[in-house]
Amino acid sequence: MKIWDSFVRVYHWSQVALLGSLWYTAEEGLMEWHFTLAYLLMALLGTRIIWGLIGSDTARFSHFVTSPKKAINYLSIEKKGKLSHSIGHNPAGGYMVLGLFFLLSLQLITGLFSNDDILSEGPLASLISYDMSGFLTQIHHQNFDVLLGFIGLHIAAVFLYRLKGINLIKPMLTGSAELTGNSPKMKHSIFAWLIFTVIFLIIYFFWASEVISYLF
Ligand code: HEM
Ligand code: HEM
Repeated sequence: MKIWDSFVRVYHWSQVALLGSLWYTAEEGLMEWHFTLAYLLMALLGTRIIWGLIGSDTARFSHFVTSPKKAINYLSIEKKGKLSHSIGHNPAGGYMVLGLFFLLSLQLITGLFSNDDILSEGPLASLISYDMSGFLTQIHHQNFDVLLGFIGLHIAAVFLYRLKGINLIKPMLTGSAELTGNSPKMKHSIFAWLIFTVIFLIIYFFWASEVISYLF
């Protein structure tokens, strides 16, 4: 059955490529690229969050955010080695996904207020004091390490399932998995891409046009 729509899949793998590039561009001081790629990720994440409210069943928060009790129960079953492939995110994985969305949002928001003490500053840095911008820049640096820790856990969990004979990666690539039960309702990804276009145009209009015109 189909479990991941194409928007969720393209979102996921673009996010992996973008995070790697964001790290590289910041390390190399390629700040115009850093900003441009970050705006792209911002539009993708914004769309993913809206898709979490109105998108396909498996993309919805209401589908994968369960009570903490359910997540703990699930983990204790997992501990006994009885892993199974859920239709969408499992109850514990749902919390990991929420954590990743939160850390990504924090990284993007603090970036808007950051400065590199030389030439570049996020488009909102001039609205706050120099000290406050310095503080948020520090959070921007430290949160990236926390994000890396979470990503490490996330990848370790995916490989743990693989060792137990459950391939979660293939469905994230193809969209489908061999499962039994009621098929989740899928929405056409074209709606997600329309939302993405609107968000990207808004970001372009307010913040990105200057830096993009500098690059091209
Ligand atoms: C930059 C690194 C990564 C980040 C930030 C990340 C983040 C995420 C997020 C937010 C989701 C939830 C998807 C959604 O509902 O929209 C997810 C799911 C998933 N990711 Fe990643 N991911 C990363 C790297 C990877 C890598 C390298 C792999 C493969 C080895 C992977 C495999 C998966 C799989 C299989 C799922 C679906 C899990 C399930 O079946 O519930 N991810 N990831
Ligand atoms: C998820 C998105 C983002 C990631 C992963 C990310 C990652 C990073 C990293 C790792 C650094 C530190 C590089 C170093 O060690 O010197 C950095 C610096 C910086 N980032 Fe981001 N960033 C993101 C979003 C943004 C956004 C949206 C903006 C502004 C529009 C931004 C503006 C900056 C600035 C101005 C610095 C320089 C800070 C300094 O040199 O101390 N970033 N970013």
